[in-house]
Amino acid sequence: MKHFLNTQDWSRAELDAVLDEAAAFKASKYGQQMAGKTIALVFFNPSLRTRTSFEVGAYQMGGHAVVLAPGKDAWPIAFEPGAVMDGEAEEHIAEVARVLSRYVDLIGVRAFPKFVDWTEDREDRVLRGFARHATVPVINLETITHPCQELAHALALRERFGSDLRGRKYVLTWTYHPKALNTAVANSALTIATRLGMDVTLLCPNDQYLLDERYMGWAKANVAESGGSLQVSHDIDAAYKDADVVYAKSWGALPFFGNWADEKPMRDRYKHFIVDERKMALTREGRGLFSHCLPLRRNVKASDGVMDSPHCIAIDEAENRLHVQKAVMARLLRG
Ligand code: CP
Repeated sequence: MKHFLNTQDWSRAELDAVLDEAAAFKASKYGQQMAGKTIALVFFNPSLRTRTSFEVGAYQMGGHAVVLAPGKDAWPIAFEPGAVMDGEAEEHIAEVARVLSRYVDLIGVRAFPKFVDWTEDREDRVLRGFARHATVPVINLETITHPCQELAHALALRERFGSDLRGRKYVLTWTYHPKALNTAVANSALTIATRLGMDVTLLCPNDQYLLDERYMGWAKANVAESGGSLQVSHDIDAAYKDADVVYAKSWGALPFFGNWADEKPMRDRYKHFIVDERKMALTREGRGLFSHCLPLRRNVKASDGVMDSPHCIAIDEAENRLHVQKAVMARLLRG
């Protein structure tokens, strides 16, 4: 069964084909690629962009989406094999995934980490549980990676720079946020930027903010294959200098996972990682592109001036979620 759990599972040729098809969907909105087909969108966490773009995308291709929120409007689910279900959960993923597979043609799953124990969260058990038991393709709507966001970001970069992104200087910068957030988008940005052969700098306050070794490892393997490069920097001005792209995201420091009160005093010392006009002026000819997956707290993660600049492509990237996801759904339905 072919799923879309991570871009790393798909070949470069498959990803390029999805991006090409997404560009075609952008040019021509309506079709029948999903006529008579359905997708269940299972949300364990809130969403604006993901839910809207998948529902609208299914509609525009002649299909239909059903949205479910387990524990709210659907039964709470147990995921552990052999679970003795004497707690909150009313049914097991073994039944949920197989029953949904009898009704629908695709299943999308959003399940953020529980933020208590990274060794558990990094197993991605909810998504893996759906993928293991479903008999239809499963799409990751953001768990500990966000592959749909990666494709939308890649399409936005292709629109500005063309399809060959090799040699572009790409900065993934940590930014302040009052809460410790998911590393998913950072893991994903690192993955796709290295896959596309860019010269990637991971800018973060100190080594405590390095990403999980799985994603650092993917990035290293990707640059070896793609001809790009990877470096880690804690020097803001050096990282921004001559950057073609600045991608911002906040995330929690993994050594403090589950002990966020202990991370907070350190985090609060790094509010100056905000993306602002002074830093963006250091980028290539002061015209480097800026983007973020959204939602974004203005004047905390990025200034109004950056968000409202013509070099900000965050809205294009958000729009592209619709087009790339239509391409992913259409491809998975074609088998
Ligand atoms: N970027 C993104 O996934 O947005 P939502 O959380 O609103 O779906």
